[in-house]
Amino acid sequence: MGRVAVAFAAVAVVAACSVAAMMVGRRLKSRKKWRTVVEILKELEDDCDTPVGRLRQVVDAMAVEMHAGLASEGGSKLKMLLTFVDDLPTGREKGTYYALHLGGTYFRILRVHLGAQRSYLDVQDVERHPIPSHLMNSTSEVLFNFLAFSLERFIEKEENGSDSQSVTRELAFTFSFPVKHTSISSGVLIKWTKGFEISEMVGKDIAECLQGALNRRGLNMHVAALVNDTVGALSLGYYHDPDTVVAVVFGTGSNACYLERTDAIIKCQGLLTTSGSMVVNMEWGNFWSSHLPRTSYDIDLDAESSNSNDMGFEKMISGMYLGDIVRRVILRMSQESDVFGPTSSVLSEPYVLSTNSVSAMHEDDTPELQEVARILKDLGGSDVPLKVRKLVVKICDVVTRRAGRLAAAGIAGILKKIGRDGSGGITSGRSRSEIQMQKRTVVAVEGGLYMNYTMFREYMEEALVEILGEEVSQYVVVKAMEDGSSIGSALLVASLQS
Ligand code: BGC
Repeated sequence: MGRVAVAFAAVAVVAACSVAAMMVGRRLKSRKKWRTVVEILKELEDDCDTPVGRLRQVVDAMAVEMHAGLASEGGSKLKMLLTFVDDLPTGREKGTYYALHLGGTYFRILRVHLGAQRSYLDVQDVERHPIPSHLMNSTSEVLFNFLAFSLERFIEKEENGSDSQSVTRELAFTFSFPVKHTSISSGVLIKWTKGFEISEMVGKDIAECLQGALNRRGLNMHVAALVNDTVGALSLGYYHDPDTVVAVVFGTGSNACYLERTDAIIKCQGLLTTSGSMVVNMEWGNFWSSHLPRTSYDIDLDAESSNSNDMGFEKMISGMYLGDIVRRVILRMSQESDVFGPTSSVLSEPYVLSTNSVSAMHEDDTPELQEVARILKDLGGSDVPLKVRKLVVKICDVVTRRAGRLAAAGIAGILKKIGRDGSGGITSGRSRSEIQMQKRTVVAVEGGLYMNYTMFREYMEEALVEILGEEVSQYVVVKAMEDGSSIGSALLVASLQS
């Protein structure tokens, strides 16, 4: 071989080596990036871990806090609000009633007709509309004028021009925010949650605001009850099954109410009701315990929310927030690695990933996870390989599993407080034989997260059995109450008339 040829061969070898080295380097780098996202996922899994032992600590903390909230005003982060609902609908109610429900994302209007027997419950029409976002930070006048206008249109359509103006229509107002009641039909707003921010309304009587707007429109309608959505769900549950003593909402927000003995409501000594009990609105969204598994994503979400240091439990378990927790994890992964391609500015927008999308990705059963790919693209991402899509599904799973399991612990906490968890409850002084006689207990559940997100529902129900044990679980029935919050409130108004 000539000298030139040798030099040529040497150059070729060096070039080949450096290409190979570059490729190995790239592969190593990409492996390192992949290792980064796997580490982030692992950290998330560890921080969200909810073994049954930890759930039981949450159960105990919930029961203790309930007790403290009943003992004194401000005694706990749980407000344990009186609702002045002491008798629940029995099935004998009759007449025609309206309900207006202002929830977190939707408002609903419906009319029910009752024929004095359970089987004669006729929900004649239900209108469901998204709440226009500008209303959430408008003024009380704008909000209530809008609600009154919507009611008027509904009535016109329903009554089809017939002249029923002379009859006063009885209306139930389901208002899904914390209210301090002075009677069943009056109460002032304590604070806003779920992104609503009309500060001048705090401290105002909500029923009065609506009644004023109805009067201004000349509508012959009487706001006969102001009802939390959980209380509406409890009413419908009880109407169908008198073993219903607890109701929980898992929707945009989350909350629970239950039937409490009046003598256990120590902060209102001397409270007398004919039934000897009253429905207590717990406002459990504000529950907090050091046993709750909190991640850095929860801390950041809270700090950047319009109600920071508030509603900590709600922010871990409800529909408004699950999507944003998942978004924060994906954002961090995309910033610390290139597995999602260049970080898109869309992904940095708070709440851009809805919990509906999380549920769609989590439950994507196409072999290539096409739904995941589509949603990631909508978030400004590039076309990512299957293993990255699987990673996203796993993030959804971790966040939703934690939510479902914590939700179950919350329910078990209430069962513990009222002695229906098989242990006899705290400070209840029940005898052993009473403890052993487990009563059938129905928990009414309502809300879009529970109704539409199968994996959330399954994780919740599975954890409830895990916490309570197989034997006690047989006595605890979880029943879905579609539109229960609105229908139940109308039933409550009907029960007030009979
Ligand atoms: C509110 C509760 C309501 C729950 C579910 C929470 O944000 O504070 O009053 O029951 O959402 O809608």
